[in-house]
Amino acid sequence: MSKSVVILTGAGISKESGLDTFRDADGIWAKVRLEDVATPEAFERDPDRVHAFYNHRRAGLLEASVQPNPAHEALARLEMRWRDAGPENQVLLVTQNIDDLHERAGSSNLLHMHGELLKARCLSCNAVSDWRSDMSRQSICPACGDAGGLRVDVVWFGEMPYHMERIYAALGDCDYFLSIGTSGNVYPAAGFVEQVRRHGRPTAQTIELNLEPSEGASLFHHCLHGPASEVVPAYVESLLDGT
Ligand code: APR
Repeated sequence: MSKSVVILTGAGISKESGLDTFRDADGIWAKVRLEDVATPEAFERDPDRVHAFYNHRRAGLLEASVQPNPAHEALARLEMRWRDAGPENQVLLVTQNIDDLHERAGSSNLLHMHGELLKARCLSCNAVSDWRSDMSRQSICPACGDAGGLRVDVVWFGEMPYHMERIYAALGDCDYFLSIGTSGNVYPAAGFVEQVRRHGRPTAQTIELNLEPSEGASLFHHCLHGPASEVVPAYVESLLDGT
């Protein structure tokens, strides 16, 4: 019988790769107000400030020291070996993260529900292009050649996350739902565990893997607390042992 796994990841999985989380004491939202840099209104008001915020984060992501850690690698291994265990077996990785560390680790069945830092979207032609350098009001769209209409392709507060239809379909059909490195503060991702428990398969197992109990920890069947680089590889091995 085929088995399907849906995994949600958040900033905590990339913390040990050198990227900041949002709501920890040393997190991004302790240093800058999200209303100033991560809303459509902020971009309208002060595009230079918003570009500068994401330019800084993009440069940080591209530093040589920032690499996938054992947790990203374990999830890529799970995708490959789970498929080997049965042709219909599925692992869908849904990330709130805008970094590319899951891809670099080798995950391929991956949805970026909050967009991607290394992509630009043109406000004139709507094309999405790879983007690794600084972005400014003068940046030119590689697709249509228009100047001045590019934004980073991330989902800001007040905007609709990407791929929701596919994500809800997968949640309704999964046997395991894992939530890794997310504080459970931001919807719709924070509601995925309830979605599985109320509307998913009655036998579906929900597991939280996080440094500490998240806001919604009591909603999961099991919780494993500790650094992602330790708890995720150990849990993945136990899941693969059971196949
Ligand atoms: N291993 C596992 N978990 C960790 C680690 C670690 N090494 N370090 C921190 N964590 C946990 C924290 O305890 C916290 O519960 O990761 C979680 C990170 O939570 P947030 O900072 O709130 O990040 P996230 O849940 O991904 O935020 C969701 O909010 O502003 C936004 O759009 C942004 O996608 C982001 C969304």
